[in-house]
Amino acid sequence: AADSRILVTGGAGFIGSHLVDALLARGHAVRVLDNLSTGKRANLPLGNPALELIEGDVADVSTLAAALRGCTAVAHLAAVASVQASVDDPVATHQSNFIGTLNLCEAMREQGVQRVVFASSAAVYGQNGEGTAIDEDTPKAPLTPYAADKLASEYYLDFYRRQHGLTPAIFRFFNIFGPRQDPSSPYSGVISIFTERALAGLPISVFGDGEQTRDFVYVADLVALLVQALEVPQVEAGAVNVGLNRATSLNQLLTALGELLGGLPPVSHAAARPGDIRHSRADNRRLLARFAFPEPTPLRDGLARLLGR
Ligand code: NAD
Ligand code: UD1
Repeated sequence: AADSRILVTGGAGFIGSHLVDALLARGHAVRVLDNLSTGKRANLPLGNPALELIEGDVADVSTLAAALRGCTAVAHLAAVASVQASVDDPVATHQSNFIGTLNLCEAMREQGVQRVVFASSAAVYGQNGEGTAIDEDTPKAPLTPYAADKLASEYYLDFYRRQHGLTPAIFRFFNIFGPRQDPSSPYSGVISIFTERALAGLPISVFGDGEQTRDFVYVADLVALLVQALEVPQVEAGAVNVGLNRATSLNQLLTALGELLGGLPPVSHAAARPGDIRHSRADNRRLLARFAFPEPTPLRDGLARLLGR
């Protein structure tokens, strides 16, 4: 029913704020729990009476329990999304990226809330499956604290499913892009960095030869899926990849950007990032079997919308 209150943790962030917009448009009341570490008030339509923002931390048990009260489902997106931040400070990021999930599981058990949609990551596969379409049974190789916390969160959600009747929908996002993605760190999403620099006329740096490929998903397509997963009565166990099974190289990406903008600033090549995955592409058969995933937004159209063209 499109009339229940939904908690969105991390709702002031890039993906979360698009989800909030979509849920409000569907007639849901929405409560956001966000510590505004990377999220912004400006990402949210705070004048909308169906939206409530709680500024607080998912790692705090009582804050989380209070935020959940009266909600029928949760989208758990709050996390330190920067892999590099988890490498630099594993203890602090573990609080947000794992303890927050565990607190949520406990609060859901206590309050009898069952549905949670969780933002996991293709990072759980590490370098495994590289160069092929990566399916969900690909051996896991969480190479960073970020990836380990995501995988552990998946396992705990599944434990609470078996033990306490939670019905989690676990999604492993591949490379998501779109408006409001923060370009400010060198480890931000490559599309946010390239578009920001191209618009500002600043030189663009490609790490390696630019022939590495990624499976880019436009944020609106992801959000349509998350809304569906929050609303459907049943969700099968097991994580689901969110990708298009399409490979786009950085060189192809730059060509498309250049065409949309009528030119590009200088593009230079630097050494490839150590440990960089060469080809990352999702086998998305499980996604297509379980959910009605609409015809995805073509990369060019997504870029055009991001550029406001
Ligand atoms: P984001 O940084 O814009 O969003 C994360 C939000 O969580 C922010 O608003 C931040 O302020 C909030 N937050 C962080 N720690 C918190 C805490 N302890 N308590 C409360 N709020 C907290 O990043 P995003 O790209 O929108 O990522 C959303 C989710 O999707 C994250 O869980 C991320 O790990 C996951 N993910 C994203 C991608 C991608 O391509 N963007 C890929 C895989 C997984
Ligand atoms: C992404 C995720 C990461 C996750 C990994 C799992 C993002 C932002 N990162 O990393 O959390 O662990 O998937 O597979 O979603 N690049 C440049 N120039 C730049 C920036 C990047 O050439 O200025 C290159 C990178 O070296 C890489 C590619 O662009 O080859 C994509 O980089 P990035 O957007 O950081 O994403 P992933 O490396 O796929």
